[in-house]
Amino acid sequence: VRHFVTQLNLFLFLSCKYLRQGRKFLVRKLTGRCELQRICYNNKSGAHRTLKIESSLKFSKSELLQSAVIVHPDSVEKTIDDIMTLKKIDPDINPQLGISLQASLLQIVGYHKLMAEVEKLRREPYDCNNPEHEEMLVKLWKALRPESPLTGRISKQWMEIGFQGSDPKTDFRGMGLLGLHSLLYFAEHDQAAALQVLHDSLQPKHSKMSKAEWDKKSFEKAIGYSFAIVGINITDLAYTLLVNGALKTHLYNVAPEIPNMVHFQQTFSYLMQEFHRFWTEEDPCDIMEFNRVRNKFYKRILTQLKDPDMVLCPHFTASDLHLITL
Ligand SMILES: *[C@@H]1O[C@H](CO)[C@@H](O)[C@H](O)[C@H]1NC(C)=O
Ligand SMILES: *[C@@H]1O[C@H](CO)[C@@H](O)[C@H](O)[C@H]1NC(C)=O
Repeated sequence: VRHFVTQLNLFLFLSCKYLRQGRKFLVRKLTGRCELQRICYNNKSGAHRTLKIESSLKFSKSELLQSAVIVHPDSVEKTIDDIMTLKKIDPDINPQLGISLQASLLQIVGYHKLMAEVEKLRREPYDCNNPEHEEMLVKLWKALRPESPLTGRISKQWMEIGFQGSDPKTDFRGMGLLGLHSLLYFAEHDQAAALQVLHDSLQPKHSKMSKAEWDKKSFEKAIGYSFAIVGINITDLAYTLLVNGALKTHLYNVAPEIPNMVHFQQTFSYLMQEFHRFWTEEDPCDIMEFNRVRNKFYKRILTQLKDPDMVLCPHFTASDLHLITL
């Protein structure tokens, strides 16, 4: 029986493969267009189109098409020329095709490049002998506590912004410099939001309680959560979404061409704010529920990202901005 099942599987696999190729061949004969052309003509730009192009290239028979998804961004133009030649598409008759294909391919190879950059930062440990690292840490303090100067590099004050002890260095172990970069981006570029989240995270949970009730609860239980620690953990969440490919829909929809580090950090800033909102809605008893709330939040974001129209946070370019004010 097992033998039969194996054979059946093989048969089904081959049938699917040949059916797919046969169908592609037939459609090409009928429409005079190859699959890439049909995708480019029938789908609007962004994740709809780029995700289809990506899978069409990956599952192609041609080695040129298969390897197109991993070329260096500088070689994209040449790769497009080669594809047009291979598919016998005249660029003068189909000028839009090259443009669409190029934008999509830049997104595809750019996503891989971004993954490598993010991974490099994640692997770089925080080093207190590196003046650049130290400077970033001090900047983080200044952005989050503008009115309260730091009394020393090693200080209990760090706990005011949600580090675990008097030296933040140890808290960066899990995510390396990526955690610091993300927190600093959020604090500096979305400062009002970051200050609000920090402020709320420091609030006792049950503010309507009477003083007597309040004293009964332990301090630990009453507090919201540790801003910096949760920020480093949400960096991990953003990183996971990037590495498992879930962020493709969002990034292909917001980055016109190559998605870069700023796109990633904007995504992080959005996730921080959304997680904060979610945490508040879930109304957990204490920080012990972090695991549960985080998992639920992660699943929700994953589901949202399955929709190819999904944009986690809109990114406005200068030209968009004047349209909005009109
Ligand atoms: C995208 O293009 C493909 C290939 O032509 C087509 O089957 C699909 O329906 C199009 N999708 C949308 C959303 O238009
Ligand atoms: C973030 O939290 C999750 C769940 O509690 C945990 O599995 C993960 O290791 C944490 N990541 C970091 C960088 O601490």
